[in-house]
Amino acid sequence: ANGYFTYDPGFMATGSCESAITYIDGANGVLLHRGFPIEELARDADYLEVCHMLLHGDAPSKEEYEEFKSTITRHTMLHEQINMFFHGFRNDAHPMAMLCGTVGAMSSFYHSDLDVSNPEQRMRSAHRLIAKMPTLVAMCYKYNIGQPFVYPRNDLSYAANFLNMMFSVPAEEYEISPAVERAMDRIFTLHADHEQNASTSTVRLAGSSGANPYACIAAGVASLWGPAHGGANEACLNMLEEIGSVDRIPEFIDRAKDKSDPFRLMGFGHRVYKNYDPRATVMRESCHEVLKELNVQDPLLDVAMELERIALEDPYFAEKKLFPNVDFYSGIVLKAIGIPTNMFTCIFALSRTVGWISHWHEMMSDDKQKIGRPRQLYTGHSKRKYTPLK
Ligand code: SDX
Repeated sequence: ANGYFTYDPGFMATGSCESAITYIDGANGVLLHRGFPIEELARDADYLEVCHMLLHGDAPSKEEYEEFKSTITRHTMLHEQINMFFHGFRNDAHPMAMLCGTVGAMSSFYHSDLDVSNPEQRMRSAHRLIAKMPTLVAMCYKYNIGQPFVYPRNDLSYAANFLNMMFSVPAEEYEISPAVERAMDRIFTLHADHEQNASTSTVRLAGSSGANPYACIAAGVASLWGPAHGGANEACLNMLEEIGSVDRIPEFIDRAKDKSDPFRLMGFGHRVYKNYDPRATVMRESCHEVLKELNVQDPLLDVAMELERIALEDPYFAEKKLFPNVDFYSGIVLKAIGIPTNMFTCIFALSRTVGWISHWHEMMSDDKQKIGRPRQLYTGHSKRKYTPLK
């Protein structure tokens, strides 16, 4: 491009990949997991059914589902020494910092999963990660609030077990509302996988060098943390708190339109969906269902609903193809459930672990896969002579 180095667009393909897991049509708001529309999965399947199809390639039969559920349930406990890692963090550490560190540290405990050329070890590490992320995420929360860790239970569903580890205390059992359990499971499903987003591409690139699965997932957690990606739901609630009341919404709408102002409406817009995010449609239903079921009275949620109404009516946002994305509504549901905003991205990471590890497993199962090497367009100096300093 600069007349010195030729640029071969073919090299750009090094960073891309083939995958049979998820299909997205951004222009038409289509999201399919193994061919199944996300709207149907979110309404008619539970998260473990979705995990099975993402990881194993198809929807499970009843027997396959029961076997998969039993396998995941039996892997939910963590090595007891992992607790020690938490006590090295300040108790006000951001939960994503703790999650990033402890997921990577899992490499030092599950030695029998580190041979990435061994299909049995690859699958066991995938099961372990799907099973243990809820336990780790709940431990991040408990450590932040100074409450004792709660062990996983085998008699609860995946979503109920997570809620129990988050909210039960030795003094009293946590009463799980079916609406909250359903909403939590739906949030997990709606965030399970999304093709080659930034964090999934990070996991694939890390895995392409042969790094162990725990290190690869830790890399995905790190990438997801950014506010333009998985950090958006936390940033969205922080934005709603900054807006504070319905009468200040116009001021922030104007800021979002002002090119000289870096402010963006968190929870709006999408890199791929330029009409609507099909996940947001389902998440919006859940959001209104949970708010009604729990009879939540929260001025922040009033601000969110009014912001949604104004944005959807404003021609500027229609022209820019900006609409509430999945993170806008999931943040509201999580807050209604009583989960603090600094935990939102951890829950996104928990949900996305199955997507990350399914892409990793798909790539590692292909014995022709090579190390990733995304190319660049060189824009620097042409070759020139160096003049020594002395
Ligand atoms: C996720 O990739 C994935 O699949 C991600 C994800 C997944 O499941 O993995 O779907 C999860 O990350 C969802 C997105 C969460 N992020 C946010 O909600 C953060 C706020 N959104 C923006 O940062 C932004 O919309 C992006 C990053 C999501 C998408 O940005 P694009 O596609 O690169 O769009 P752009 O930056 O080119 O913006 C196009 C125009 C610009 O205006 P112009 O320069 O053309 O005049 O729209 C404007 C932008 O300024 N714009 C916004 C805006 N997003 C874009 N203006 C105000 N508020 C916004 N949120």
